[in-house]
Amino acid sequence: MEKFNIAIDGPAGAGKSTVARLVARALGFVYIDTGAMYRAVTWKALQIGIAPERKDELVRMAAGLRIELHPGEDGQQVVLDGQDVTGLIRSSEVNRNVSAVAAVPDIRALLVAKQQEMAKAGGVVMDGRDIGTHVLPNAELKIFLTASVKERAERRYLEMKAKGEDVTLEQLEREIAERDRLDEQREASPLVRAHDAVLVDTSGMTVPQVVDRILELSNTAAGKG
Ligand code: DC
Repeated sequence: MEKFNIAIDGPAGAGKSTVARLVARALGFVYIDTGAMYRAVTWKALQIGIAPERKDELVRMAAGLRIELHPGEDGQQVVLDGQDVTGLIRSSEVNRNVSAVAAVPDIRALLVAKQQEMAKAGGVVMDGRDIGTHVLPNAELKIFLTASVKERAERRYLEMKAKGEDVTLEQLEREIAERDRLDEQREASPLVRAHDAVLVDTSGMTVPQVVDRILELSNTAAGKG
């Protein structure tokens, strides 16, 4: 099969990473989670005490970072300047600060360039917020994956509980709604559905159902690749 690219965008907790990883595995493609890159920059900034408002310092710091994404069987490993930060970038503290970091245009420019480089050879399933609109506007298949705030909060709640994080469902609903608002209303590359993206609402769907739907769509896209 031709190596084409698949862009999967949508709000926090819609199931993008789970679905994207499984679609990539089924097609023998590489899965790239771009949110992890914004998270890694945010984690580092928190670590060294740069507040997201101090944009110049933030951009200077980010420009000097070496962010590596290593695709693996169980997902993607994130390595920052040689340190494995895969688990560390999923904390509540990073969750609360990442939207502000992702809203800085120069940070986006830096990371988008890296993402485009990674997809150059084709054969990637890339998930994020602006993949179909900005990063890979020519992707052969674009999916906009969504689900209700309530269902997304419930899914994240189960994930975080399993990791032993102390959160409540109400807190997560508030955080997700707030993150949607920030991601949709920011000036630089807001979260919007690309005009040519296929909308897939995963409320009430199982993961295998969503994966099958995307694989079906990718059969058609393969013809364009
Ligand atoms: O998908 P996620 O929850 O790991 O994303 C973390 C944050 O990064 C979220 O606030 C949206 C932002 N993001 C973005 O602005 N553009 C992307 N391509 C990916 C994520």
